Amino acid sequence: MEFLDSLVLPQSKEHIQLLHFMSMIVMFLFIPFLGLLIGGTTLSVFFRKKGTNTKEQIYFRFAREIIELIAVNKKAGLFLGIVPILTLLLIYSQLLHNLKMASTAYLLIALFFIVPGVILVYTYRYSFQFSSLFSKLTLKNSEDEIKEEFESVSENSEAVSKKSGLWSLILLITGSYFFTGAITLAAFPNEWAASKSILHIFISSSIFIKWLYFIGSSFALTGGYILFAYFYWEGGKENLGEDYAALIKESALKVTIWGSLSIPVFVMLHVIALPVSSLSTTGFIFTFIGLLFVFAVYHFVYDMIKRVHLKFAGWTFMTLLFAVVVLIISDQMAINSGTKEHSLLLATNYDALIQAEATADGAEVLSGADIFNLRCAACHKFDQKMVGPPYNETLPKYEGDIKGLIKYINNPVKVNPEYPSMPAQGLKPKEARAVSEYILEEYKKY
Ligand code: HEC
Repeated sequence: MEFLDSLVLPQSKEHIQLLHFMSMIVMFLFIPFLGLLIGGTTLSVFFRKKGTNTKEQIYFRFAREIIELIAVNKKAGLFLGIVPILTLLLIYSQLLHNLKMASTAYLLIALFFIVPGVILVYTYRYSFQFSSLFSKLTLKNSEDEIKEEFESVSENSEAVSKKSGLWSLILLITGSYFFTGAITLAAFPNEWAASKSILHIFISSSIFIKWLYFIGSSFALTGGYILFAYFYWEGGKENLGEDYAALIKESALKVTIWGSLSIPVFVMLHVIALPVSSLSTTGFIFTFIGLLFVFAVYHFVYDMIKRVHLKFAGWTFMTLLFAVVVLIISDQMAINSGTKEHSLLLATNYDALIQAEATADGAEVLSGADIFNLRCAACHKFDQKMVGPPYNETLPKYEGDIKGLIKYINNPVKVNPEYPSMPAQGLKPKEARAVSEYILEEYKKY
């Protein structure tokens, strides 16, 4: 990803927090939209096929209307489908800069699948409209030549439409797999080393589980959205006809119930798989709230099936949307925790850069205490465990061996398996000596 590295700017601690926050907002927009595109296109392709097999107009109509509902207009496709993934790519290349793991590579691959996938959904939608228009027209009394041309155009548009539907699905589903891989990997530091091989994505069960969750919730959302659009929005659509309304209701409820039943299963499996370093109390709380929303959806759907009404058509969709958003927040918490050490490192590098600029400007050379505060304090205290071990535990062995300490700081080797490795600090010889003298003097006070 060298070309992405050139876009990376050193980030302060506040900027890093802001980037995490922005990536969450972008996911709020992108994940439900991608889910609706996949769910809606699948249903549309399915009912179209059913229409072809049974020759029943009602299925064609449903297939066409679903895709018109999901692919509302091209601007939405651009702003909800394409811009967000570009933005995420930029954010991740900043946040995960210098980490040897595959998230940004996965995002880039996802981009290559999702962009043409979104374009093809719109191709599918418009060519579907054309081909159904053609099928209604019959030419009478016109010359044979025109008739022939008309038929060939009509057949072509039918073929384009069928193909684009299927291909958009293949591209979007593959893209969604790499996308989920990128996000999931960020919360699983224990898999980073393995992800150096790009094939890791196909054998990682944590990524697969998360993707199943994504697909399940996408179908739940799509079903909910169809209920919402037909039976709630602006008081519900009129003149549907009894048969048609029954078809919509039955299929949408079925998709919602199966999709939402799968959510808690995959969410629980995901939480169980998370490494300890990525767990947090707030993360748990958000997961719990998300699941409560899903349980509320069961109640709505059950009531609508049992008592044959559609009172909750609007609530079902909105509650599902809340559930998805809250579960995205809990994912983001896991990513924050998983990348905490790396974020600290980026922030210390930033402070170091500012410091180097200050000294280059002719300011005085920094004291050992200053270097400690700028470069080490983010990970070390004298008497408490932080990212790194407390100094009063590790320094006694360097008593009388300041050279050994300096050497370690500039070129750390793995010492204690209970901690991650310490990154090399890249201090100048004078600075390394100053900070070593300072901490060797200071730690005795604790
Ligand atoms: C990004 C976090 C981070 C920063 C910044 C950091 N350290 Fe560390 N440090 C660690 C970790 C993690 C360990 C434990 C490594 C191990 O046991 O393998 C460690 C271990 C140590 C040890 C113990 C080595 C041993 O032999 O047990 C010393 C001494 C130390 N660091 C000094 C420093 C000094 C001095 C600085 C600042 C110039 C610094 N560290 C900056 C994370 C950090």
